[in-house]
Amino acid sequence: MRKKIVAGNWKMNLLSADAQELFSTITKEVTSSEKCDVMVFSPSLFISKLTEIKSNVKLGFQNFYPEEKGAFTGEISITQVKDSGADNVLVGHSERRAYFHEDHGFLKNKVDAALKHSVNVIFCCGEPLEERESGNELKYVKQQLIDSLFHLNNSEIVKCVIAYEPVWAIGTGKTATIEQAESMHKSIRSWIEEKYNSEIANSISILYGGSCNAANAEELFACPNVDGGLIGGAALDANSFLQIIASF
Ligand code: PGA
Repeated sequence: MRKKIVAGNWKMNLLSADAQELFSTITKEVTSSEKCDVMVFSPSLFISKLTEIKSNVKLGFQNFYPEEKGAFTGEISITQVKDSGADNVLVGHSERRAYFHEDHGFLKNKVDAALKHSVNVIFCCGEPLEERESGNELKYVKQQLIDSLFHLNNSEIVKCVIAYEPVWAIGTGKTATIEQAESMHKSIRSWIEEKYNSEIANSISILYGGSCNAANAEELFACPNVDGGLIGGAALDANSFLQIIASF
């Protein structure tokens, strides 16, 4: 059985006190017998404080630099991520691709650096609106996986989680329909099977992201190939995040 996961992506929101309060509130409710793994990708600044809170909620970094150390002013290295005790990272989020020009080769380096240091990767993919409108979404997403993920060998790829996040659904309140989500997730799984094998394809969790909230999570998570969600806006409110977790 592959893992069910609900991961919150706080993006560049919250101040220190709010972050601690939100994390503590979630922590009080998330038990070790939850039906899914729960993760929070906090701004990196808060991670060391949050790791002091004993919690069943795993922590992760939204970003890092794929070198171990050196003259990279302002960056956080993959070894610093590992050292923090929060050993999960997002790679390939559409905001990093679009605003910070992270290209396929750079994302490939990030994936490799994370795995080398035993840091778990959630690899994000998803098409912009124009690709969806021109019917090119499958080809577009497949290429993202080929370019930055499918160079991994069998024992590496199984350590990754994939998050399908259509760019037009992120932060827009416009969620993919159940059919759109399931169809893309099913295709992603078939490409993994094509490249690796069916056992590997069936073991990799594929999350949906893009305006997933307390009202639509249950329906989305009920899709056979949707193994959970990567949640932005709705993760900033403890109640909605907890309701999403309870959707399983
Ligand atoms: P959203 O963001 O839930 O606010 O659409 C999702 C994401 O960017 O991971």
